[in-house]
Amino acid sequence: MMYKVEAIVREEQLEDIKSALHDIGVNGVTLYQVMGFGAQRGYSTWVRGQQVDVMMVPKIKLEIVVSSLEWKEKTIRKIQEVARTGEVGDGKIFAYEITDAVRIRTGETNYDALQDDE
Ligand SMILES: Nc1ncnc2c1ncn2[C@@H]1O[C@H](COP(=O)(O)OP(=O)(O)OP(=O)(O)O)[C@@H](O)[C@H]1O
Ligand SMILES: [Mg+2]
Repeated sequence: MMYKVEAIVREEQLEDIKSALHDIGVNGVTLYQVMGFGAQRGYSTWVRGQQVDVMMVPKIKLEIVVSSLEWKEKTIRKIQEVARTGEVGDGKIFAYEITDAVRIRTGETNYDALQDDE
């Protein structure tokens, strides 16, 4: 079974997370700059003397598609370990089952499409 691990993390943690994923041997990552809010519903700030609720906080979203349950667990564990500061706003990790993967260049599918070429 293939899985997609999706992690919404602090921008400041990105470099550490990227190198940790590289170190454990993850073969691909997609990342996005996103806006979001969690349980604290964003935060409040003052703009020209008025208190406004900033509902959306900038975060980074990473997507990693892996080829087994073991890799899913390993990836989730590593991100949780590296992304954690212990303060609110450290982020969330979600995982999904994936039905299809295709390497466009070769036509390889699923497990084969996700392997390192060399
Ligand atoms: N239920 C959710 N669905 C989709 N995205 C979420 C959800 N919860 C959090 N996020 C995303 O994760 C980001 C960080 O969330 P955050 O870490 O504040 O979660 P939390 O549940 O409030 O945990 P904490 O109490 O540690 O802050 C949010 O800005 C949002 O982009
Ligand atoms: Mg929060």
